[in-house]
Amino acid sequence: MSQNTSHAVMAQRAEPRDSFDFFPTPLWATRALCEFILQADPILKTKRVWEPACGQGHMSRALGDYFGLVYSSDAHDYGHGAVRDFLFPGDEPAFDWIITNPPFRLAEQFVHAMIDRAVEGCAILVRTTFLEGVGRYRTLFSQRKPTAILQFTERVPMHKGRVEENGSTATAYCWIVWECRPHRPCASGVPAMVWIPPCRRKLERPGDYEATS
Ligand SMILES: C[S@@+](CC[C@H](N)C(=O)[O-])C[C@H]1O[C@@H](n2cnc3c(N)ncnc32)[C@H](O)[C@@H]1O
Repeated sequence: MSQNTSHAVMAQRAEPRDSFDFFPTPLWATRALCEFILQADPILKTKRVWEPACGQGHMSRALGDYFGLVYSSDAHDYGHGAVRDFLFPGDEPAFDWIITNPPFRLAEQFVHAMIDRAVEGCAILVRTTFLEGVGRYRTLFSQRKPTAILQFTERVPMHKGRVEENGSTATAYCWIVWECRPHRPCASGVPAMVWIPPCRRKLERPGDYEATS
């Protein structure tokens, strides 16, 4: 029987408890979310977004293609953005959107903090298996219903510490979106299930796989 020996991230990935879980996001995957938000909000360029677990800034760079202002921070100093633990309250101003690929082990805590602080909405990129689980249903999804789940039809290769143009993965990823505007409250409604059509080739840009500053 053949075995998948790729370095790509598998659904059963286990990180040491003290790991920062740094798996940067290919830029096209963040642009796919922005294209979705842009459909409902054509004036995204006037909005401010916070990337609170920015790593080396891969997601922040892609967000900058769509938002007017991007504020980046991370608990670890990767040389990009402010150094701060998102799970401890700070004195940041209000941001319209908060968007990240959170550390998997802290993803649920991140979501609660993001919803509490975002003005218009927030979104996380997670393994699709994040949607299952009785415990998470009780403590998160039954209380704070997402507005939309965007399932990638293409695979999004994630590798520890780097983005790879020719990477591969056996893991499925999705975006989960919570819109917080008063007329679209997070706590009610039926989430939209959206399949992100193949878009990688269209959304990749020259320089996407070069080192971030
Ligand atoms: C999966 S990586 C994602 C990096 C970046 N968002 C991206 O998509 O390219 C998770 C990031 O969360 C950061 N992190 C872990 N715990 C954190 C915390 N409590 N507050 C802020 N950032 C944290 C890690 O240092 C790491 O950079």
